[in-house]
Amino acid sequence: MSVLSSRLDPASADYQARRAAMLAKLDELSAEQAKAVAGGGPKYVERHHRRGKLSARERVELLVDPDSPFLELSPLAAWGTDFPVGASVVTGIGVVEGVECVIIASDPTVRGGASNPWTLRKTLRAMDIALENRLPLINLVESGGADLPTQKEIFIPGGRIFRDLTRLSAAGIPTIALVFGNSTAGGAYVPGMSDHVVMVKERAKVFLGGPPLVKMATGEESDDESLGGAEMHARVSGLADHLAADEHDALRIGRRIVRRLDRRKPGGPHPGGVRPPLRDEDELLGIVPEDLKIPFDPREVIVRIVDGSEFDEFKPLYGGSLVTGWATLHGHPIGILANARGVLFSEEAQKAAQFIQLADQSRTPLLFLQNTTGYMVGKDYEQNGIIKHGAMMINAVSNSTVPHLTVVMGASYGAGNYGMCGRAYDPRFLFSWPSAKSAVMGPAQLAGVLSIVARAAAEARGQAYDEEADAAMRQMVEAQIEAESLPFFLSGRLYDDGVIDPRDTRTVLGLCLSAIGNAPAPARAGFGVFRM
Ligand code: COA
Repeated sequence: MSVLSSRLDPASADYQARRAAMLAKLDELSAEQAKAVAGGGPKYVERHHRRGKLSARERVELLVDPDSPFLELSPLAAWGTDFPVGASVVTGIGVVEGVECVIIASDPTVRGGASNPWTLRKTLRAMDIALENRLPLINLVESGGADLPTQKEIFIPGGRIFRDLTRLSAAGIPTIALVFGNSTAGGAYVPGMSDHVVMVKERAKVFLGGPPLVKMATGEESDDESLGGAEMHARVSGLADHLAADEHDALRIGRRIVRRLDRRKPGGPHPGGVRPPLRDEDELLGIVPEDLKIPFDPREVIVRIVDGSEFDEFKPLYGGSLVTGWATLHGHPIGILANARGVLFSEEAQKAAQFIQLADQSRTPLLFLQNTTGYMVGKDYEQNGIIKHGAMMINAVSNSTVPHLTVVMGASYGAGNYGMCGRAYDPRFLFSWPSAKSAVMGPAQLAGVLSIVARAAAEARGQAYDEEADAAMRQMVEAQIEAESLPFFLSGRLYDDGVIDPRDTRTVLGLCLSAIGNAPAPARAGFGVFRM
């Protein structure tokens, strides 16, 4: 292994400016994440506590092993929408009795814990992670069911939750429901479809229809307890396997169930052990320039995240806009592809396609570090086959079956987003830095293209082009595209699994690689036809 050197000068004005800009963005990130943590706000949180109940995050904290890390997922879900940041649910990977589990905890302080369209997306994403990585799923249930005003967006697609619960079980991945409160109508199928069900005495309410609905439907007089109370389900219907005395007891029983699963992890870290990088992770704050047109060397990132800062570069003299090579991270072997100068040329695309095949052959997970403006355009490049070469890279990314991880550090524009394993290519995990920007192309380029097209259309109609309106249109479009390219907006739409502090990159990737170790890489499946 060769140890990477660093040319970063933390005393330089450039470094200081980049660091200051990143810290300012991190302040904004903390403020947005605090909104998710605040749930429904003091009024609803206090009412919830007055009722003697734990919050969603308190439940998670008591469920996981003391002092173990919790990798929260999609904390900014619903950012920039009409719904509260966090989407009324907490999801993440936590360690219970030494077993990595996906935890989904509805937040009853946000509109009664009702599921809105973003809750649904966030929940389904967490369930996909459980399935792909073979992690037991624990639902901490207390929800008002579908958010009624937006039911049209969730009722039909929401059926997937129940389908996927039983598919997890069928795949040999245990599912556990701890029911703390309301779980009515469709929500009743969360315990209904789970392998193990715990209900809290005098708190859990699990029925297809509550007393008013039953009265309307059949005329029968009933009450909550006889229709769906924990005692009734534990003694009469048999839906509850365990009757918990209180919330703490339910969490204790949940932990005991996981212990009894006796799950053993097939994959583990490399016998070489875990060594920290030789360079300070803190310096990751000062690498990405505010203006993403200025390139930066991704080796400065790699040197600060991989074990011992050791990196064996593959084809270092060829296709210099893309850095490829081998390393270990928290003891897990990985292959890294990192954009160096933004644009991907034919050489980079071919180098990437070869490198991905090598990783697939040696069953080594891949890490994509994105900062790309896309594939090179222009006559010479088209004539030299840039489409074919980009297609080779996309083919290799799409069909390699080793796990992929993606971190968007800077730009992620055009088909570069695809070739570098963007969201549509199903990396096992995808995180963004606060400096990330993603769109079909840069805002100025997009506005310029619209302007050229509109000008040509006006000329074709024989009309004079309104230059003033054009300038206003460009300005408006640029501002809109810029806003839609930013990481909070994209994270809000679940296009990543979270925006992270660059200093946490190694830790987050280490947790992801550890989670991935629960699911052996699927068999090699072959590639599509490579156009030569
Ligand atoms: N859709 C939209 N908003 C909902 C909601 C739902 N399913 N459930 C609750 N809310 C809202 C309430 O209107 C209330 O809003 P407000 O404070 O602005 O007035 C807020 O969430 C809190 O609800 P509240 O009833 O005060 O909380 P609670 O803790 O006392 O009771 C429930 C929670 C879930 C038991 C109760 O709200 C309820 O029964 N909701 C309807 C459940 C239902 O039938 N869902 C349909 C399933 S398909």
